[in-house]
Amino acid sequence: MQDKTAIKDAPAGRSTGKSVFIRTYGCQMNAYDSERMAGLLRPLGYAPAASPEAADLVIVNTCHIREKASEKLFSELGRLRALKAKKAARGEKMTIAVAGCVAQAEGAEIAARAPVADLIVGPQSYHRLPEMIARAARERGEILETDFAVEEKFDRLGEAREATGPTAFLTVQEGCDKFCTFCVVPYTRGAEVSRPVEAITAEARALARQGVREITLLGQNVNAWRGAPPVGHAGGETRPGKGGLWGLGELCRHLARIDGIERIRFTTSHPRDMDDGLIAALAEEEKLMPYLHLPVQAGSDRILKAMNRGHTAADYLALIARIRAARPDIALSGDFIVGFPGETNEDFEATLALAETVGYASAFSFKYSRRPGTPAAAMARQVPEAVKDERLARLQALLERQRAAFNAAQIGRVLPVLFEKPGRHEGQIVGRSPYLQSVHAEGPSSMIGSIRPARIVAVTPNALAGEIVAAENADGALSSAGAAERDLRLA
Ligand code: 5AD
Ligand code: SF4
Repeated sequence: MQDKTAIKDAPAGRSTGKSVFIRTYGCQMNAYDSERMAGLLRPLGYAPAASPEAADLVIVNTCHIREKASEKLFSELGRLRALKAKKAARGEKMTIAVAGCVAQAEGAEIAARAPVADLIVGPQSYHRLPEMIARAARERGEILETDFAVEEKFDRLGEAREATGPTAFLTVQEGCDKFCTFCVVPYTRGAEVSRPVEAITAEARALARQGVREITLLGQNVNAWRGAPPVGHAGGETRPGKGGLWGLGELCRHLARIDGIERIRFTTSHPRDMDDGLIAALAEEEKLMPYLHLPVQAGSDRILKAMNRGHTAADYLALIARIRAARPDIALSGDFIVGFPGETNEDFEATLALAETVGYASAFSFKYSRRPGTPAAAMARQVPEAVKDERLARLQALLERQRAAFNAAQIGRVLPVLFEKPGRHEGQIVGRSPYLQSVHAEGPSSMIGSIRPARIVAVTPNALAGEIVAAENADGALSSAGAAERDLRLA
């Protein structure tokens, strides 16, 4: 299971010339942004460093979505200040940059409280990073770059992308217009912006050429993506959405035609943007993986209204029923918040009931945390911490039971696994099932980068154990699994 709060450090690489170390907090979007920043800095001669100690430039890519983001940042900056002083004593220079949503939201405060940060750059200004680094080197002054200036950010980022394995993220959409009352994203990431089809297709093709087999389309509201069909597009494989524009379903069908791209995923979707075109694509496009992250946040209509979600529990359940009718084997994932202001026991029971009804394959749940500046932070009847703890424990126990049951149900099935990397043990390789479960199996490293049928033989706490089906049996095994899935869909 993915840990959204985990610190993911950029991998180590060459160590010639200047070097950059990027510390990434938070979501997949941030991990992707870190990759892009590394890509933008490479032409300036910055190679990835293995640690802050070894780096000329340290970027702290922050996440603002939940509590203690700024405390974490300031303690990280405290450690870096000591390191910078140590290096200065040896006559070495180190530049420190703060990027991400905390930079966007609290740039002025960071500048005041932590003058050790040489650069503060918000997500809308990453394409200016090389220029900023150069300017910082020249003048050593403090530079604030947190104004929203969306101007063709995607275009300026270009296609200079290096794939690091058989799977890759590809940003297709940014920003949020939904304004859930608990959330900072609409303030830190700005309005919803879709990247044009041509740019997305070019990046997907470039990734495929580098051996990428699976792309995950990213966006804060990924299914709000809209775009004009490519010029001269003859149609055929897609159905135009409303007003002649494509929606995410049409985009996925289009990307599925790229040679080498075998799997497509997308995240994160909003229930209000789950349109017929996307549901039809999930039903018909085999390369679209049967896994959907569709946050609901709460099960009580009163709380959903206070959250400004724009849907009721019944709307969400009806949507799930339509999606399941279209793709019966779909694995569902979601996000939940417990202890939103004013949440009563009865409201919380409604959340448990909704989760019980849906049956999630995996889900994330959080205690509500006050984000200054958001409407919910000023709401009356904040829920005591102890109550939030107790509710979170109950919800997580339920979601964990569901996850374990979903995993156990795979035992005996033959699943196509895209192997991504060597496992922890000698002779072991690790990949993902269509349902995003981690699967490990004995196999040669030559199988990394390919999709192989694996019979699931056991379940461990965080993964499935598989046995790769011998080549001569593979086709039969796979086609019978495929046929079983098709039969299910017709049911
Ligand atoms: N408190 C708790 N959880 C939050 N999330 C977003 N903002 C908050 C907050 N203020 C959660 C939501 C969202 C996920 C990415 O983080 O569940 O879907
Ligand atoms: Fe935040 Fe709501 Fe937008 Fe998701 S949809 S990013 S929770 S405001």
